[in-house]
Amino acid sequence: MTTLKITALGAGAVGKSAITVRFCNGIWVERYDPTIEDSYRKMMELDGTQYLLEVLDTAGTEHFTAMRDLYIKNGQGFVLIYSITSEGSFHDLEEIRRQIVDIKGEEKAAMIMLGNKCDLEGQRVISQAQGKETSSKWKCPWFETSAKNNTNIDDAFTTLTRRIISA
Ligand code: GTP
Ligand code: MG
Repeated sequence: MTTLKITALGAGAVGKSAITVRFCNGIWVERYDPTIEDSYRKMMELDGTQYLLEVLDTAGTEHFTAMRDLYIKNGQGFVLIYSITSEGSFHDLEEIRRQIVDIKGEEKAAMIMLGNKCDLEGQRVISQAQGKETSSKWKCPWFETSAKNNTNIDDAFTTLTRRIISA
């Protein structure tokens, strides 16, 4: 069986853990417990082939960003997550994306971009147009997601898996 290494990256509290746990374990985690590093596994069948996805859930806190280089070297696919309720988290993805492209090269960098917490429409500060514009500039699939409501989570990981396989 083929194992694919996926890494969730983004600022603190955007929902990296909530998305990872929703996808891998099928549950919603309300409580905020800042991550140091956790790893999850999930089987995915695509076009008759089974893949074992190993999802690494990283820390968003500034203190741990020195680890990012290593995560990127070891990862095959990257979930870049911002929160639609946080301007800073959206801009933080630029540096993360740059680092991925520097390490992996433009062609080999399998990425998706997620605007999470789309259930919090009343607190939105990043429009859909902004998300779309940046993702098309980066030639990277983009979804607005809600870990809470399970919106677009499976689609996002399926899309990323396809990108990794074809990279
Ligand atoms: P760090 O591990 O510190 O980097 O944070 P994180 O990115 O893993 O964030 P986490 O998943 O822990 O979520 C932070 C808070 O946001 C938690 O209280 C979650 O319940 C909440 N949250 C995550 N995703 C969503 C979502 O889609 N909708 C809403 N309403 N809240 C969310
Ligand atoms: Mg976390």
